[in-house]
Amino acid sequence: LFVNASKASTKHIPETLFGIFFEEINHAGAGGLWAELVSNRGFEAGGPNTPSNIDPWLVIGDESSVIVSTERSSCFERNKIALQMEVLCDHEGTNICPDGGVGIYNPGFWGMNIEQGKTYKLVLYVRSLGSINVSVSLVGSKQMLATANIVADNVSNWTKTEIELKAKGTDAKSRLQLTTSKKGVIWFDQVSLMPTDTYKGHGFRNDLFEMVKALKPGFIRFPGGCFVEGEWLRNAFRWKETIGPWEERPGHFGDVWHYWTDDGLGHFEFFLLAEDLGAVPIWVFNNGVSHNDQVDTTGIAPFVQEIMDGLEFARGDSNSKWGSIRAAMGHPEPFDLKYVAVGNEDCGKKNYRGNYLKFYSAIKQAYPDIKIISNCDASSQPLDHPADFYDYHIYSNANNVFTSASKFDRASRTGPKAFVSEYAVTGDDAGKGSLLAALAEAGFLIGLEKNCDAVEMASYAPLFVNTNDRTWSPDAIVFDSSQFYGTPSYWMQHFFRESNGATLLKSSLQPNPSNSLIASAITWKNTQDNNLYLRIKVVNFGSNSVTLQISIDGLEMNSLQAIGSTKTELTSSNLMSENSFEVPNKVVPVKSLVDDVGEDMDIVLSPHSFTSLDLLI
Ligand code: AHR
Repeated sequence: LFVNASKASTKHIPETLFGIFFEEINHAGAGGLWAELVSNRGFEAGGPNTPSNIDPWLVIGDESSVIVSTERSSCFERNKIALQMEVLCDHEGTNICPDGGVGIYNPGFWGMNIEQGKTYKLVLYVRSLGSINVSVSLVGSKQMLATANIVADNVSNWTKTEIELKAKGTDAKSRLQLTTSKKGVIWFDQVSLMPTDTYKGHGFRNDLFEMVKALKPGFIRFPGGCFVEGEWLRNAFRWKETIGPWEERPGHFGDVWHYWTDDGLGHFEFFLLAEDLGAVPIWVFNNGVSHNDQVDTTGIAPFVQEIMDGLEFARGDSNSKWGSIRAAMGHPEPFDLKYVAVGNEDCGKKNYRGNYLKFYSAIKQAYPDIKIISNCDASSQPLDHPADFYDYHIYSNANNVFTSASKFDRASRTGPKAFVSEYAVTGDDAGKGSLLAALAEAGFLIGLEKNCDAVEMASYAPLFVNTNDRTWSPDAIVFDSSQFYGTPSYWMQHFFRESNGATLLKSSLQPNPSNSLIASAITWKNTQDNNLYLRIKVVNFGSNSVTLQISIDGLEMNSLQAIGSTKTELTSSNLMSENSFEVPNKVVPVKSLVDDVGEDMDIVLSPHSFTSLDLLI
């Protein structure tokens, strides 16, 4: 490997080259990063008409003691469904309630993770014509973990109740119960249970947030994906329905990935997430095109206005109509929104170009600094419409992804740059996240890094999967209510964390007979120790061990620099190795010290491996 560090042959790597793509898929948000423990908290999951579907809420007690139904009687105008519970039994008389009373329970998203010593905030809205005595409890499979009573005489109007519950035990499969042994009729609505220790109190599950933060993403693309399009336009993500007080959000059924979301993680929270991650937000919006229906360009004006309002929500000052709502939600400062994508994978669709141009001109006129991303691929031919970037997605087998490292070698250096917003090895080569997939993706990313004058941004997809709703496999981070791990594809991304804003050096591999090696070299500054490092990354995609001779030109290297220099390797004896809850660290980067450093040096690359050398310079 020849590395040339002379200034004339370097390239500046964009600050945003490597980032993340967050889509509401696989319960990534609802029942995932968003820490809300109650699923279907407003009983709206079956839609706005009665009877609605209260799933996964279940009834405690039989028909002789309790009857549960839904009604359009909520105090919240945008989500009218409330739950009515008619208690037929009592603590005295002829129809005595069973031990523990009757009522309803919510199992959360395949069990609520309740942890000893932690506090959970329960908020619910309740109404009854008589007095009530309701127990609220967090119940594990073996024991009661926390309980409190709501006793009230006058709740004839909807009444908000807030209770903090401190858990005296741990159980990852707990549930929330609302029970009573008192005859009467009680209505419930908007029942929320949140752990109080979310990231900065912003509602993000700490462990999953930290996993994402550890990637040091330069940007975050959100909220989809197909999620943005919908199978049908009526089910697409509509930002206005996801802002304001959580109780007032209608929620919606994501018909592409087949689940309901209460939209607690809404337009505002996505921007907050970007800010908390220190990542540039990239908002993908629906452009009047879904999988099965589309709005004609002649009728697109209201859709354009909706997006202009969404931009004002993010960027307007707090005196503006929509900016004032953001301010009221606790963020008077505008969000730093500078990138939007018009739709997702819609380029070939009939109205895409017509609609795109309407969005483009309205946005550019009001916000000339906002960069606009087109869905149409310009990697091999110029676009027929104006754009700042073009979206490019690749899902394929390992060989295709690995060899696509050269995809952008001949892409235009003068027109819009690529945003590789979704890449992954899929199918048999990937399983549920194999080493093989990660190696191919690493090779692909090295290719993108070397083409950073033609590629502006890249993100793996999908980011998350709740193991109980594996709609799309593989994914980078796997979790359930209490556990999580990174797949090899997650750990592979760690090798690129320092690339954003770094300097790419010219490097060439000769010989590379079977083309099974790919390498890049960057210099980067470690802000922790303030030192400058040369990082050489090499994928050995072949099954033989390789002794790689490295020759570094333009940097003075000597053996003293071995102190502080390291080698990190991602490999395994089995190419199809995967991580799991049981063995989360089967395929993770392993760091070792380097004992010899020089302008000419050899390193041994294991078969099927991804290696990074960090040399102090
Ligand atoms: O990442 C999963 C899906 O793949 C995305 O929603 C879509 O953009 C692509 O087809």
